[in-house]
Amino acid sequence: MTSPRRIETLRDDWKFCRGDADFFLKHDFEACRCETVRVPHDWAIAGPFDPAHDSHDNSANQPDVENGIETITGRTGGLPHVGIAWYRRSLDIPDHAEGRRVWLEFDGVMSQSTVYVNGHKIGHYPYGYSSFHYDVTHAVVPGAENWLAVRVDNPPLASRWYPGAGIYRKVRLVITSPVRIAPWGVRITTPTIEQTASVAIRTTLQAQDDTHSAVELQTHIKDPSGKKVGYAHHTIHLEATLQCNQSITLNAPQLWLPEAPNLYIAETQIVVAGEVIDQVEHRFGIRSLEFDAETGFAINGVPTKMRGVCLHHDLGPLGAAVNTAAIRRQLTLLKSIGCNAIRTSHNPPTPELLDLTDKMGFLTIDEAFDEWAAPKVKNGYNRHFKEWAETDLRAMIRRDANHPSVILWSIGNEIEEQSLADGGKVAQYLVDICHDEDPSRLTTAGFNQPFDAIENGLADAVDVPGWNYQPHNYLQFHQRMQGKPTLGSETASTVSSRGVYYFPAEEEVNDAALRESLQINSFDLSYPTWAYSPDVEFSAQQQYPFMMGEFVWTGFDYLGEPTPYYQQWPSRSSYFGIFDLCGLPKDRYYHYKSQWTHDPVLHLLPHWTWLGREGEILTVHCYTNYDKVELFLNGKSFGVQQKDPQCGSTQLDRIARPSTWFNKADTMDPISTAHRMVWPAVPYEAGELKAVALDQTGAILNKTFVHTAGAPATLKLTSEQTELTADGEDMAFIPVSVLDAAGPPCPTADHSVRFSITGPAEIVAVGNGDPTSLEPFQSDTRRLFSGKAVAYIRSQGRETGTITLTAQSEGMATAAIKLNMHA
Ligand code: GAL
Repeated sequence: MTSPRRIETLRDDWKFCRGDADFFLKHDFEACRCETVRVPHDWAIAGPFDPAHDSHDNSANQPDVENGIETITGRTGGLPHVGIAWYRRSLDIPDHAEGRRVWLEFDGVMSQSTVYVNGHKIGHYPYGYSSFHYDVTHAVVPGAENWLAVRVDNPPLASRWYPGAGIYRKVRLVITSPVRIAPWGVRITTPTIEQTASVAIRTTLQAQDDTHSAVELQTHIKDPSGKKVGYAHHTIHLEATLQCNQSITLNAPQLWLPEAPNLYIAETQIVVAGEVIDQVEHRFGIRSLEFDAETGFAINGVPTKMRGVCLHHDLGPLGAAVNTAAIRRQLTLLKSIGCNAIRTSHNPPTPELLDLTDKMGFLTIDEAFDEWAAPKVKNGYNRHFKEWAETDLRAMIRRDANHPSVILWSIGNEIEEQSLADGGKVAQYLVDICHDEDPSRLTTAGFNQPFDAIENGLADAVDVPGWNYQPHNYLQFHQRMQGKPTLGSETASTVSSRGVYYFPAEEEVNDAALRESLQINSFDLSYPTWAYSPDVEFSAQQQYPFMMGEFVWTGFDYLGEPTPYYQQWPSRSSYFGIFDLCGLPKDRYYHYKSQWTHDPVLHLLPHWTWLGREGEILTVHCYTNYDKVELFLNGKSFGVQQKDPQCGSTQLDRIARPSTWFNKADTMDPISTAHRMVWPAVPYEAGELKAVALDQTGAILNKTFVHTAGAPATLKLTSEQTELTADGEDMAFIPVSVLDAAGPPCPTADHSVRFSITGPAEIVAVGNGDPTSLEPFQSDTRRLFSGKAVAYIRSQGRETGTITLTAQSEGMATAAIKLNMHA
């Protein structure tokens, strides 16, 4: 009797070449002409940066540009992702695989992949964000030398952000018995949840031929502690393909919710004559979701506001190549500001993200598309929509439906069809697919042309319309779309550069925010014409109980879309993040944290090192959730500021603007809100700036300080973790900063720092969060930006032991940090 399935992740020893190298399909392939890489792999992140990469003439969209031509440079990151490349690797198909089924699973290939096995063309898949799989039984020869080749073709003008390039997600070789559980073949739902929960399991079995053999299907359920708590078995007569429905009742179910993401496991087995011949495991959660037009969102009956962010898929200096530790780090950082929700803008994510949102408790909107048939970019998904939309949408839902964290399917973001006559019809077609594939979940989409989308029926076709940048219209939409629950699918879109300040700190819309430095003020008051400061959304969400929450654009800076400097090279990555491109918090981190958590927050900005600017009038802000704060400079009080519960709502009225989104916000009042206190005029003098939080009686509750730094004297390494797992994949992210001789950090230091490492780990990337830096990410040297940079180190293999990372810079004391690599 055969043994259960064998799964091999195809990680190492891929041969790789840029260009249309058709020698990859020759049996006597010359491996020496290629680079050896590991997958996930993103060929473009190695650089170099160049404004010519994927730049384009945007004259069609900007007819008023003086000479009729506008060249957009950093839109997709200024990295060399466009072009063709080949990958090849051997496949280990042992003798005893004879008579078994062999298939390949791809989590995502960017893009237009064509897969070959032993020179036979197996299939072509255009959309770079979809997962897909091929049965290759017919193409392999067990016991012989087998090989897999993948051709990738990234056209220019195909994306609005950095898409990555190549086999950037995992690939697996799977060998099973001839009778098997189909790929994505187990669907788990929990139709009733009361004192007990019923778990419905639909399993799709496949047999290679019409053998009509009898097999037993067994499903065991394990609770979050690993204890077996449920069992079902059925003897079934197998035809070519068969679906079997099972139901298991669980007592006292432990529910899944963001604060307690309890996960069960369903273990599905095919058993013949007492032997397990195929087996898979799926995690699932037990939770009920309510979307109410009046009261908003509730999970398991608990009203919950979504405090969400939108996330693009790149991992900053690592590019698009998937790494679980880097995704976990992003989610851990987001948890620290009270974020409880993610929108996978604007495409299906890597499966690792959803495993983590399940485990860490993030409500997740799984989004399919940024484009339907009408283009946003010339060679975007519009070219594939007609032929592939149904396949891609079903693939996303089939792959992701068992994740309890997924709460809504999004059929699109700011789709151009919002303003086209048949938009409603296309939306209905996609919504019907979603409901057919998964009747247990609702659908959503993000609208930035809401009036058009309401008019043409698109907004009505989805179950939960999402509004992009519309807090001033929430009430009106609520009234117009009676009975529809609703959320803020994109909010704020404020831009900032970490640690960069200009005075006076004022609201700046679009061009007003442009500066020669190509940086943006970090006071969280600068934004494009369609956007607004976070304070406005906070008060809208508070004011309207029917709003289910918000998804901030974005959690992290991402590669590409360097608004507002989309024409100004070397600006090449976005400024929208709460965290910068390498995960360092900007000031706005504290703004969100003060709003989204009950942790005490008292954060002063700007830094206080303005040498030679004595007497200049500076603006001081404090993000806080205390009621009263007093500011002192060198012991002198600049007065007490109090929380103003009213001011958020006055801003809401203030930005009430007509339906066209290219209208500037109305006149700007001085800004101060419940979580932002402002001292508009503090004459600079070097020394100590201090904020003191007070209660209503004047008693001191907390204090924070910012000191003027002296000359940079010593480097400092800190680590977000002390332990690493020796698996060749785990990573640590180690910030370096500079201190003066007395201890305070030097906030403007821009020295070049060189990292070196000993022990079983390697430096795989460096970054500093500067959206204009053209230094390569794959290096051991990085300039500091606003006094900081980050080294990304990765376990090298199975070797354990101590790792020492050292940072050096001329004229400064060296720093070293030790981490432990364990088995
Ligand atoms: C939205 C869009 C996002 C991003 C953002 C920048 O309109 O949906 O993908 O472009 O603007 O503000």
